[in-house]
Amino acid sequence: MNISYAQIFENNERWVAQKLQDNPNFFEELSQTQTPEYLYIGCSDSRATAEELMGARPGQVFVHRNIANVVNTLDMNAASVIQYAVEHLKVKHIIVCGHYNCGGVKAAMTPQDLGLLNPWLRSIRDVYRIHQEELESITDEGKKYDRLVELNVQEQCINVIKMACVQERYILDEYPIVHGWVFDLRTGKIIDLNIDFESTLKNIQKIYDLTNSEWVMSRNKNKNNP
Ligand code: CO
Repeated sequence: MNISYAQIFENNERWVAQKLQDNPNFFEELSQTQTPEYLYIGCSDSRATAEELMGARPGQVFVHRNIANVVNTLDMNAASVIQYAVEHLKVKHIIVCGHYNCGGVKAAMTPQDLGLLNPWLRSIRDVYRIHQEELESITDEGKKYDRLVELNVQEQCINVIKMACVQERYILDEYPIVHGWVFDLRTGKIIDLNIDFESTLKNIQKIYDLTNSEWVMSRNKNKNNP
């Protein structure tokens, strides 16, 4: 199952040769610029890879991964990735992808002191609290665990939609669209949770409308009346 350190470099040599065989200019083109249309926010879990499960090539997906695919307002790492993807790369889709059997979600379900992980897992414990009634009505522990994985994705999508850069870009360009996925390790399939982006945005803007800045309004006016 594991890969040796030396094997990685052998694999890399083979990969380079294969790419050059398919397209002799592959790396020259790759080095020029990136224009990915997708931002993928997923779990760091070694089994839930981003590009491989999507069948995507280098240059197609901008990726951010952390424990249990959390988008926390005070996390400058996630915030910078999202801001850059939305403002500069102008991605059309933002995907938050969780996965069943997520160790981070499991740890958050366990009420105990996990040291340094406590503040990180609190975001997921908050998801549990928000949806406590639904979760505690599920008697099967496995099903409850799966459901918390899904609800965590849903709440992290909402956290993405709360961001000013996402709301502003959507007014200007009608994208990015935010999607929630779960990767099922047991089948290999991606499950689209079909989050209704438009209505979620509208709903949360009752509280988190960050689009009243004059900059957006004037940009929007110019866009409609060039
Ligand atoms: Co995980």
